[in-house]
Amino acid sequence: MPALVLLGAQWGDEGKGKATDLLGGSVDYVVRYQGGNNAGHTVVVGDQKYALHLLPSGILSPGCVPVIGNGVVVDPSVLLSELSGLNERGVDTSKLLLSGNAHLITPYHATLDKVTERFLGKRKIGTTGRGIGPSYADKINRVGIRVQDLFDESILLQKVEAALDFKNQVLAKLYNRRAISPQQVVDELLGYADQIKGYVADTTLILNQAIDDDKVVLFEGGQGTLLDVDHGTYPFVTSSNPTAGGACTGSGVGPTKISRVIGILKAYTTRVGAGPFPTELFDEDGEALRSIGGEFGVTTGRNRRCGWFDAVIARYATRVNGLTDFFLTKLDVLTGWERIPVCVAYEIDGERTTELPYNQSDFHHAKPVYEYLPGWSEDITKAKTFADLPKNAQAYVKTLEEMSGAPISAIGVGPGRDETIEVNSFL
Ligand code: IMP
Repeated sequence: MPALVLLGAQWGDEGKGKATDLLGGSVDYVVRYQGGNNAGHTVVVGDQKYALHLLPSGILSPGCVPVIGNGVVVDPSVLLSELSGLNERGVDTSKLLLSGNAHLITPYHATLDKVTERFLGKRKIGTTGRGIGPSYADKINRVGIRVQDLFDESILLQKVEAALDFKNQVLAKLYNRRAISPQQVVDELLGYADQIKGYVADTTLILNQAIDDDKVVLFEGGQGTLLDVDHGTYPFVTSSNPTAGGACTGSGVGPTKISRVIGILKAYTTRVGAGPFPTELFDEDGEALRSIGGEFGVTTGRNRRCGWFDAVIARYATRVNGLTDFFLTKLDVLTGWERIPVCVAYEIDGERTTELPYNQSDFHHAKPVYEYLPGWSEDITKAKTFADLPKNAQAYVKTLEEMSGAPISAIGVGPGRDETIEVNSFL
């Protein structure tokens, strides 16, 4: 079982950090393959809580090699500050490997992210403002700066000049901002080079060799399926591919090497930023999910929008990712409701559908069709096996499993590392 992908099955924030961390002890490499410091993993180890944005959560497991793959966009200042923050807390970060082909987020990317959002006004995406989209745009436009460019000063200047040529026109003439000096950007980037150099490696080669040597490699997706630039709720998405295929392009490991694809699925639904969300709640149930579930962004601190579980989305995630398993998280948050609505289909302009519509206007108009499952009031945080769960909680999990199209192999019943029920082993 050498290579597993672990990704969000909804709009991100499903509790991936906990799942990755659970597997961390038996995993040799944990790889991030897309996104950047827009992600937010909270990992609880003992009485310590860690919030990671850019680093793979495997960095907290001794013996595991954390890898930032070529598909990630890296803000070097964030990378170094996350590393030093962990070092101060006694975490050994020396094993980190960083792809030389990963693209950089520079200060002008963050500037552009913010001014573009402001310019969009009420059509804004609600980005994290971290420069993710502009950095990926440069990559696709072939004017991006890669990690390896940090180590060749003259090439770096040429590339930054090329990248800023057009942007400075836009900044000055369209956004009424001051032009950015290429040399200033280069000086800042060069200031990071020496500290980063020791981590840079040919991660594609290393990962393929590791798989050939039967090491366990875990690919950790950031964001979630419905934030995927191709398969999500475009344009209200992030600028990369969190879906399973992204693990291959973002790491240089071929699809035939991937053995299992695990979708992290929250027992209800949340979303940050703008865009459609059929089961969103605007009442006291939504407030209760937010406060009991602690649904505030790890990265931006924004309130997450909350709603009931949506089986249409879960089935879609199974389809576009080829999911083999689910890890159901935060089941404990639902304790106390007398009955729990679950969305089983949508009604769109009077017609009922059980598949996610590919047409964006249809999805905007989708009204959830609910089934109501009986709730439970017993504390489930101490449950160690499936049989320890109250009958109604068992039935809730089983119903979600039947509706979602893949087995639920683990269930999160509390935030702590050991508050997880393993139904089937992932390894
Ligand atoms: P960007 O990734 O900063 O460009 O933001 C694009 C969209 O993705 C916005 O709606 C963000 O709120 C959302 N987003 C980005 N990262 C995450 C995440 O880790 N969890 C949830 N939503 C995210």
